[in-house]
Amino acid sequence: MFFFILFYVSEALIYTQAMLSSFYIKALRPYLKALTDCLHESAKYTSRTAAKQHETDQALQEMIDKDGAGSWPPKASHKDSWPTALRPYHDIFLELAPLLPVYKVSVDDAINQSRRIEFRTRLQELLRERVDLPAVESVLSTVENEDPSLLQGHAYNGLFACMGYLRHAFRWGTVPVVKCAQEEKIIDFPSELEIPWAFVCRRYGIKSQGGSIMSNFCCNIDEEGRLVYQVNGSMPKKVSSAEHNFVFSFTETEKRALPIYQHIVQSIISFEQGQNQECAEHLKSVNVHLRKAMRVYYEQVIESKIPRSIFVGYMQGFHGWAAGKVVDGEYTEYDGLSGGHLVLFNLLDCFLGLNTFIDEEKFANYIPASQRRFIASVKKHSFRGQVERAGLSELEAQLDGIVKQLRTFRSAHSKRTSRYLSVESPERMVMTAGASTLESGSKATVNDLVSIVDAGLRKKMKETI
Ligand code: HEM
Repeated sequence: MFFFILFYVSEALIYTQAMLSSFYIKALRPYLKALTDCLHESAKYTSRTAAKQHETDQALQEMIDKDGAGSWPPKASHKDSWPTALRPYHDIFLELAPLLPVYKVSVDDAINQSRRIEFRTRLQELLRERVDLPAVESVLSTVENEDPSLLQGHAYNGLFACMGYLRHAFRWGTVPVVKCAQEEKIIDFPSELEIPWAFVCRRYGIKSQGGSIMSNFCCNIDEEGRLVYQVNGSMPKKVSSAEHNFVFSFTETEKRALPIYQHIVQSIISFEQGQNQECAEHLKSVNVHLRKAMRVYYEQVIESKIPRSIFVGYMQGFHGWAAGKVVDGEYTEYDGLSGGHLVLFNLLDCFLGLNTFIDEEKFANYIPASQRRFIASVKKHSFRGQVERAGLSELEAQLDGIVKQLRTFRSAHSKRTSRYLSVESPERMVMTAGASTLESGSKATVNDLVSIVDAGLRKKMKETI
């Protein structure tokens, strides 16, 4: 409340300044300006500190600070901001990336396997020649235990992306993904990729052996919005720009989601303070910003931006994983990237009192700890049930608007996904990036995949009520 009073008083002072200028009473203006600035700052500070006391706001701030390096979507810097020992990784990926994609993919396993071996051998050679592993281990250990400033948040994010791309490059060895690579379920990574990955997993609080939406997409964008690590940079423009559009459709959605997070937090705070009118205003803003965020999907995931003919081969496959490890005699498989790992959709489900698409185990494998904490804090403070029980119709209407938008997205997403996945790719077994290969492996058809994925996505859509 105090924040609003300060805000309106300072707004009134701005108006008074303007009036005074028109009356040529200029002498008073500097004093009024100083007072206005002071009140504005004070209003900002009051809003921050008051809201900061709330668990959800603390969790949002922590997510932005820790994973986002001070902004959202996360800020990332690559190579120059890293300690010298880590820089060869960046150069090695850029140097070898052109060897990954092949324009006309073979269906001959022997040819594909020899391409993979050639790529992996070259990658291993460069890692051995250029990476000083003890120095890498020492610097990452110093960052972890003594001096985090050696690798600041944005720089660690850049390294996360680089490691993600290098590990996916080693896992597949060629693009499009081919059957013999999918059959390989345990990957013998070189130590140069294994040792730093353990630090990365602890840093972000994740378990997967492969990359995630956070590493491969969010942390792979430079200040100008360009992809830093690109798989198809050497391919014709149609393919390389589709790769950019695909990544952008996720990162831009998260970018537009930040005001949604802020208004969700504020709606929770005002609801808990019994200020229903203010709460309704925040929910209205959630609806406005959600429309802008959803527009990204509707405008990007279309044939002219991401052609169906190249999606499975050049966009999706590389970001899949479908491999794992054996611990105490038990095999655990990890998936690759999935839209189901984005903060926005999990957060909305939790805020609306719905189940999330992915389960606890997947949360722990792929979603960084501070993002999980933010989502969990919003789930804890979800108030939709209370609104319905109390029959608060204005709040209910706004919450229903959010549900409706989410359901419409899910309906469009399931239809478009079926079209993208229904393209035949004879060089490989059917697979999605986020859900690996089907149990029936090489016998499963594209139709099997489409109907299983569609059933899952449509079920989620129907549950969005
Ligand atoms: C060509 C583009 C896309 C295709 C083919 C596609 C495909 C899929 C598939 C197959 C799944 C099921 C689980 C998995 O394997 O990951 C999925 C889940 C999901 N995707 Fe996408 N996706 C695309 C783009 C996007 C974009 C741009 C977004 C959002 C910005 C998105 C958001 C989601 C969400 C939230 C889920 C979890 C299910 C849900 O909550 O309804 N997807 N997607």
